[in-house]
Amino acid sequence: MDHSSMDDDAIENGHMSHDEVVSLNGSTGENELKIPPLLESDNEEEVVYTVRAQEGETEIFDGTNTKTYGYNGSFLGPVLQFEEGDTVKIRTINELDEETTFHWHGLEVSGEEDGGPHNSLKPGEEELIEFEVTQEASTLWFHPHPEGKTSEQVYNGLAGLIYIEDDNSKSLGLPNEYGKNDIPLIFQDKTFDDQKQLNYSAAMNDDGTIGDTSLVNGTLNPKLTVGKEKVRLRLLNGSNARNYTFKLNTGDSFVQVATDGGFLNKPVTLDEITLTPSERAEIIIDFSQLNSEDGLALINEEDGSILLPFEVSGQSGEDSSIPEEMNDISITEEEMNLPVTKNVELFGMMDMVTINGKKFDPERIDFTQDQGVTEVWEIYNKPDMMGGMIHPFHIHGAQFKILSRNGEEPPENERGWKDSISIEPDETVKIAIQFKQKGVYMFHCHILEHEDNGMMGQVKVE
Ligand code: C2O
Ligand code: CU
Ligand code: CU
Repeated sequence: MDHSSMDDDAIENGHMSHDEVVSLNGSTGENELKIPPLLESDNEEEVVYTVRAQEGETEIFDGTNTKTYGYNGSFLGPVLQFEEGDTVKIRTINELDEETTFHWHGLEVSGEEDGGPHNSLKPGEEELIEFEVTQEASTLWFHPHPEGKTSEQVYNGLAGLIYIEDDNSKSLGLPNEYGKNDIPLIFQDKTFDDQKQLNYSAAMNDDGTIGDTSLVNGTLNPKLTVGKEKVRLRLLNGSNARNYTFKLNTGDSFVQVATDGGFLNKPVTLDEITLTPSERAEIIIDFSQLNSEDGLALINEEDGSILLPFEVSGQSGEDSSIPEEMNDISITEEEMNLPVTKNVELFGMMDMVTINGKKFDPERIDFTQDQGVTEVWEIYNKPDMMGGMIHPFHIHGAQFKILSRNGEEPPENERGWKDSISIEPDETVKIAIQFKQKGVYMFHCHILEHEDNGMMGQVKVE
């Protein structure tokens, strides 16, 4: 297919421009935000969890049941809690009518436990996995990863959070009362049909399915009631393709304390933060300092929609302060001077997406890397005739450091552990990455339709 026919095709499919922002029906604020349950261990002596992927019906709209997927429930999933040093066993059970996998996004586990497309479970199958938690406190997540079906299964509701704690996180004194001043927030956009059903094949766009309805933790029109205190929000962009630029409607600033894989060294004050699909950030908003008379809300600056209105209740909570030093991650002299040993070129759009000119092939290993050895990967987002688009690039099984963006130091709030990184058209980023475990790991664009369309490769760590 030549380029002109590719462009015609794109327009027929409704793809006008990469920059077009499909607006989001924001929240009107009538429903209290749902808080996912914390999963309890099956057993007191050890950390043993059971996680079932299942089908169900969820009352997203009053009086109507929507068919959805969920983990241990009908929609989304519980929060799994680990501590650094724990040995964790998870019994994963596929109760769906189709194959699925259980992928632990951001977790440093071996390729066997990682839940990539090679670890598929058929309907009715189960598998017990076991691993040690070797990484620091962070907010990770889990979702399915079956070849070609990730986007549909996530869209239907399979996604949950993982919290890792460690001694450092417990000593920092950050807000940590779950559901009260430490709030998990999964942002997603969906499209519902006339029957208020999720009809993935009707909504699907090869360039990334963008919904017209905002859900937070699966709640339609959510609002969050908070005290007059500092509140920690753990943000996950859990959408298939939409980018979110989180901002307070009043323009007030907030403080970012953590990236995908851990705490920043120092809190960073921001007016807004952009998260592309699969990225996380922990931010702290000080509601004791904000004037809430005219209504406060978290909005998406990309389209102006209201994502989450806040209702600030009278009582002030305990006044905690954010420590000036939270972590000690830094880029070493040695890492700075390492040569680039892996080149990744992201290119294309719709179903013509590739990495280094190739589409995913489960039989092909694209790169090899030695366990425990740091290498520098250079990732380039090659623009197309229409300018190109942002690709959120993710690597399994490791947390990495961003060395540079177009040769410049990364912004302050990206100087922490990352497992996903937003890459603009014509941008080159360099990262330093080390795998602690062995196995075959995926790297891919986290626009889930791009991933399913083959914008994915494999690195074998040995
Ligand atoms: Cu969120 Cu391949 O993963
Ligand atoms: Cu992942
Ligand atoms: Cu992409």
